[in-house]
Amino acid sequence: MAARTVAVVLAGGVGERMGAGRPKQLIEVGGRPILAHAVGAFDAHPGVDEVVVVMAAGHLRDAAAIAAPFSKTAAVIEGGDTRTASTVAALRVLDGRPDDVRVLFHDAARPFVDRPVIDRVLAALDDHEAVAVGVPSSDTIVVVADGVVASMPPRETLSRFQTPQGFRLGTIRKAYELALADPALRATDDCGIVHRYLPDVPIRVVEGSERNLKVTQPLDAVVAEHLATEVNS
Ligand code: CTP
Ligand code: MG
Repeated sequence: MAARTVAVVLAGGVGERMGAGRPKQLIEVGGRPILAHAVGAFDAHPGVDEVVVVMAAGHLRDAAAIAAPFSKTAAVIEGGDTRTASTVAALRVLDGRPDDVRVLFHDAARPFVDRPVIDRVLAALDDHEAVAVGVPSSDTIVVVADGVVASMPPRETLSRFQTPQGFRLGTIRKAYELALADPALRATDDCGIVHRYLPDVPIRVVEGSERNLKVTQPLDAVVAEHLATEVNS
């Protein structure tokens, strides 16, 4: 049997920068909670078998109600204080599954992830253990130290990471095992964990989409509402 594919939708954050008084993934855009858009994208993808939702403590009932109508919802669990802790909680649900299971970690705050992006991640997982989604930066990005420019990496070498990030389960499990044993572990994204703790594993970068924005600040909610209307029309 082909390896199963599990999408983990990370909704364990509280959306401090959005300041909406409740987690931003519960805000509606285009008439549906942001979380419903994210879960729906994976539920609708024929290559995804199961969806696991990781929700912020105190909001599990809301998440369960949003996820219940989707037939691939396998679990709705409580996350941790950091994104890393939420990812680890999801990995615990997958304890005992074979190493070749494909797992995709997606920010619930990205409601407009689309089928072509998920397709590219799944295709790349056929011959890579770790896959990231990136878009070119239109702004110049520089390294600043003490208020002055320390270095200017050439723009064409830079990529802004989005999600989903995809892994073979055995690889991401191993990377987190090493990370959790490191007292100096600092929170980063899941590819960051692989890059740091399994430096020999190449992380393939596939093309993302400008629409796959992360709703982070109040302005993003305005843009998301506009995109939701476009997507639905
Ligand atoms: N996330 C999570 N568990 C956490 C923190 C974040 O699952 N403890 C998730 C968020 O719900 C979000 C994604 O990781 O879907 C990206 O995080 P971010 O945009 O930073 O969301 P928040 O942490 O909710 O926002 P803020 O940092 O402004 O509080
Ligand atoms: Mg955060």
